[in-house]
Amino acid sequence: MTNTALQERPVQIGDPGVGSRVLSGIMPTGDLHIGNYLGAILNWTRMQHEHESYFCIVNLHAITTPQDPAELREKTREVAALYIAAGIDPKVSRIFVQSHVHNHAELAWILNCLTPLGWLERMTQFKEKARGERERASAGLFTYPVLQASDILLYGGTPPRPLYVPVGDDQKQHVELTRDAAERFNRLYGEVLSPPEPLIPKRGARIMGLDAPDRKMSKSEKGQYHGIRLLDTPEVIRKKISRAVTDPGQEIRFDLARPGLYNLLTIYELFSGQDHEQIERNFTGQGYAALKKELTEVVSEGLRPLQERYKAVRDEPGYLESVLAEGAERAHEESARVLGEVKRAMGLG
Ligand code: TYM
Repeated sequence: MTNTALQERPVQIGDPGVGSRVLSGIMPTGDLHIGNYLGAILNWTRMQHEHESYFCIVNLHAITTPQDPAELREKTREVAALYIAAGIDPKVSRIFVQSHVHNHAELAWILNCLTPLGWLERMTQFKEKARGERERASAGLFTYPVLQASDILLYGGTPPRPLYVPVGDDQKQHVELTRDAAERFNRLYGEVLSPPEPLIPKRGARIMGLDAPDRKMSKSEKGQYHGIRLLDTPEVIRKKISRAVTDPGQEIRFDLARPGLYNLLTIYELFSGQDHEQIERNFTGQGYAALKKELTEVVSEGLRPLQERYKAVRDEPGYLESVLAEGAERAHEESARVLGEVKRAMGLG
């Protein structure tokens, strides 16, 4: 089992259309895990060959909650290196850091002025992240989805082209708000922005915590056995999988009523490239011990090439800097065109 097998599975997307674009991003907070990989990055690696693609590291989103400056700087580089290690090719896609392209912050201000508070009040992620401490949460955390809308809409092209946003299912609401924002802008000022489509994979859009299969695997969860990180060693992966919460019942099969098992089987499915029937057949007459052993094997082997490339990227002096400088330049050029149209349409430019 290698990463290549992962990348051979068919992409579930519509007709790419002419001159279509892709934009997505990840926050450089905490450690990237297999949920980020299976729900988002894996699809990016496939889509980059069909669409003009932009992948950013969204450090301005990271600061909506307090961050240590040195750690933020390091995490930003780590995420960039992981994009490349996972198979985003800097010769094909533009990889850049959000704060290096100031157009994102500028469009965010403009869209803030056009976004009704009621839309933001409905965002479930704000409620989760503010954790009941609404009075103390930053204004940035509240308007977070507007910055995300700006990230996306800046790459819709001039004139507007089909625009896709490959994400896990927790981001669907944000992409829908982006769509509403684009449609509202176009109604008020003319056809300038491209309303985007979220692309959510049929499998892997919501990988659950190993220690709590009722909660999404998340970078911010602190539990030692919660998630498998992309840079975890095989030994750590083994320990985490061996402690994964399972459900009563013996038979190994895809059964939504057994969420712990279902989650492990979904991870197995995505890393092994096998379908449900094949997997259930393989494990006939076997129990959790066999599944966990095999799963440890496919996950460790599946991540091995990524980890090797990660090390190579980090070890090559100046490489990451040059990729990010070139990515920022290209992203700036492209986003400046859309921002220019927005400003002209509104009487600002
Ligand atoms: P973030 O950093 O939380 O997550 C990055 C991507 O990983 C997906 N994801 C998951 N997929 C499956 N299972 C999981 N357990 C899981 N956890 C996370 C997320 O859906 C996402 O695709 N707001 C965004 C960052 C962002 C962005 C953007 C995304 C800012 N601007 C523009 C797309 C386009 C976020 O917090 O993602």
